[in-house]
Amino acid sequence: MAYDLVVIGSGPGGYVCAVKAAQLGLKTAIVEKRATLGGTCLNVGCIPSKALLHASEMLAEAEHSFAKLGVKTGRIEADLPAMMAHRQATVKANVDGVAFLMKKNKIDVVRGTGKLAGAGKVAVAGEDGAETVLETKAIVIATGSDVAGIPGVEVAFDEKVIVSSTGALELEKIPATMIVVGGGVIGLELGSVWSRLGAKVTVVEYLDAILGGMDGEIAKQAQRALAKQGLEFRLGAKVTGVTKGKKGASVTFEPVKGGAAETLEAEIVLVATGRKPYTEGLGLDAAGVTVERGRIAIDDHFRTSAPGVYAIGDVVRGPMLAHKAEDEGVAVAEILAGGKGHVNYGVIPGVVYTAPEVASVGVTEEEAKASGAAYKVGKFPFTANGRARAMLATDGLVKIIADAASDRVLGVHILGHGAGEMIHEAAVLMEFGGSSEDLARTCHAHPTMSEAVKEAALATWAKPIHV
Ligand code: NAI
Repeated sequence: MAYDLVVIGSGPGGYVCAVKAAQLGLKTAIVEKRATLGGTCLNVGCIPSKALLHASEMLAEAEHSFAKLGVKTGRIEADLPAMMAHRQATVKANVDGVAFLMKKNKIDVVRGTGKLAGAGKVAVAGEDGAETVLETKAIVIATGSDVAGIPGVEVAFDEKVIVSSTGALELEKIPATMIVVGGGVIGLELGSVWSRLGAKVTVVEYLDAILGGMDGEIAKQAQRALAKQGLEFRLGAKVTGVTKGKKGASVTFEPVKGGAAETLEAEIVLVATGRKPYTEGLGLDAAGVTVERGRIAIDDHFRTSAPGVYAIGDVVRGPMLAHKAEDEGVAVAEILAGGKGHVNYGVIPGVVYTAPEVASVGVTEEEAKASGAAYKVGKFPFTANGRARAMLATDGLVKIIADAASDRVLGVHILGHGAGEMIHEAAVLMEFGGSSEDLARTCHAHPTMSEAVKEAALATWAKPIHV
């Protein structure tokens, strides 16, 4: 049977694309080589990490805040097997949910590894070696990304001692010590998990700051908050070697500015130095699909250089984020169904699920400065927010960047408890081209953490009330 659309890869980009296409009346199939649907995000990424982040955050709250809140408990301790069972149950509920969505929308799920096999054809190699050829009008490549490793450094991942994010989600016991190579999103999230559970965590980062690319002031404050929790940072340090020892592993690094190399040892080394697009085995060359700097090249309509072949998500340009892939999946499905699909790349929120959370949308102050245009900044600290005080969640601030002339909001950055939820009022505002006055004049319920967003908007437009 011929399809209107075959999607290769069932991560958030692929499965959302398939659902939207089916909703719009396209006969759709999705190809997946993993035993369960949902890709990296649901199986070994966003979802399981959030299960462990939440559980370990509860432990940390119980240890550090309950007494101050007047809640007496007995001895608090981590039950790692139970925590891992929670992680597995969370993953199962989510991947089963995607399987249900495929059934509900009458999308054929084809198990195996897909590759381009000539115009309008996808060949799927099953586990038993048998090949099925699917005929289709359009193909969407949504194969995601894989662990990049450290450029120029041989890293022998065994996922037991030297681990990527995948192994770091499944450690069988709480290590006494852990070195995290890379102070990016994965390093800080999974470093936080194991630090809360009792490991002494040292983060070794090449740049002079953690969370490169995020607003510098917010990143600095996030680092301070994480350091208070016991994470140690070695910044401006280039890792040149990761070696497995008799017990644990060692990491060698040298100051980026020059100087003597140093070696640290730990029970576990987590390497979190980025991800690379996953394009192996797709037959891109033979199909005439152009790849630029490792990513599949696409135009504004997600078209690759091969007719009828589209690509979305981590394999194409832009941030490697599940929600960016989802929105691209919807947009390409709309285009294929004859509509107009579009993604506003200027308003894609980013969230780091540490405690406090870091959330941002739009330009950073560094980017605003570099653009040369006049801008203004308004800030409000959670120490001056009533709800934050009541919850012992006063770490952090809201920072808003707006155009000096038009007052249009260009970027919002939040460090604080629940920042990942609060950021969306900024995203909606920016999607509608709103100003800091619009945000400041919008009535916010009291007492909420979100009042700090309103106050930061007041600080940007006029003057805040509560500081
Ligand atoms: P990342 O790009 O966020 O961070 C990697 C860090 O490693 C950088 O700060 C880089 O300077 C550093 N690094 C590279 N080479 C180094 C060396 N030789 N020595 C020391 N440091 C070195 O990558 P990460 O954390 O691995 O995440 C991968 C992708 O997954 C990212 O695109 C991220 O956005 C995404 N992700 C998103 C999450 C979220 O939205 N909450 C959660 C987890 C991952």
